[in-house]
Amino acid sequence: MPVEFLGIAYTNNASETTARSGLSFDKDYTLKLARAHEDHGWDRVLFAYGSDTPVPDPAAGWLAAKVDRLHILLAHRPNVSYPTYAARSFATLDHISDGRLTIHFITGGNDHEQRREGDTLTKDQRYARTREYIQIVKKVWTRTEPFDHEGEHYQFHDYISDVFPVQKPHPGISFGGSSPAAYGAGGAEADVYCLWGEPLTDTAQQIESVWAAARAAGRTDRPRIQAAFRPIIAPTETLAWEKAHRTVEAIRRRRAQGRQAPRGHHPDGPENTGAQRLISIAAKGERYDRALWTPTSAATGGEGNSNALVGTPETVAQALLDYYDLGVDILSARGYDLTGDAIDFGRHVIPIVREEVAKRDREGAERGPHLLEKILATH
Ligand SMILES: Cc1cc2nc3c(=O)[nH]c(=O)nc-3n(C[C@H](O)[C@H](O)[C@H](O)COP(=O)(O)O)c2cc1C
Repeated sequence: MPVEFLGIAYTNNASETTARSGLSFDKDYTLKLARAHEDHGWDRVLFAYGSDTPVPDPAAGWLAAKVDRLHILLAHRPNVSYPTYAARSFATLDHISDGRLTIHFITGGNDHEQRREGDTLTKDQRYARTREYIQIVKKVWTRTEPFDHEGEHYQFHDYISDVFPVQKPHPGISFGGSSPAAYGAGGAEADVYCLWGEPLTDTAQQIESVWAAARAAGRTDRPRIQAAFRPIIAPTETLAWEKAHRTVEAIRRRRAQGRQAPRGHHPDGPENTGAQRLISIAAKGERYDRALWTPTSAATGGEGNSNALVGTPETVAQALLDYYDLGVDILSARGYDLTGDAIDFGRHVIPIVREEVAKRDREGAERGPHLLEKILATH
């Protein structure tokens, strides 16, 4: 199974270590960053969603028309639109991009952030709504006869769309979250299930949970797995670790200056399980496996994709291959200098991983979370 690489589509040059130098929607930067990915071996970039950021949907349409090969993963929060509208919007974007669109359905892990746009449901209720929403979107994409819907969150009658996606049966459905409600909804509906990078043992446990949820939903197939990291690479191990320490110092400095406080930060810590897991993993240790390093995550309060992989390109590639062996098909990575790091990772890490994966595939190598002990024993 060929491995895929997901990078980031950002609309400006800000990161945890860097203040943005231009507008929030900086067209030149957005395009430069996407081209850095396209020209250096990446498959896809993620447009994230936040209640105050430039809206990713029009930005994704504009970008798709400017790049030739790069695919787009578009984050979408169900509370911001009606599912029939969203499904047609995505189908239209699938045409604009000539079939290079995947939708990442995000449920939202923070009540305060959700309420900013009028969403008063609890997190578990939101997951139930996301599931119903995805089911409707799939129907709108594929039904050629008018249909009614009588659900818990949506009711409508006699609906039929006149715009169908390019991709058949429909664009990919991507999903993220680490709570039982997330596994239930995503295990049932997702083509790709996204995890934030954790130690191999914890990742194996999450993969098992997602696949168990898919089985419980009566599926005979199972979601492909994606895992996300923050690689910090340099030509030698020493230089990479120096860079890692400089990076975490820069994150702490910006936080101390109050420049990067998490949105809707809760005094008792994050509400979402994924972030709670990252915090507890960081509290237990700084280094795991070949190259996983947690201080970057601890410094941000476990905010999203925040665990680093530190080392030479060879070390980081071998660390990523461990995740591939564990069953991860899509490797997501983002640096701290977004453009420069996308180029370096594309030049120096992606080719090693692709070559090794091709070798494993030729040899018919076994993969999956049941191989955890065997993978750990190679370290
Ligand atoms: C790879 C990935 C990307 C995500 N992107 C976004 C995003 O752009 N915006 C957002 O509000 N939440 C995003 N999330 C958050 C999830 O949708 C979910 O709300 C959060 O992980 C809380 O879930 P939990 O309590 O089930 O862990 C993302 C999650 C993952 C794993």
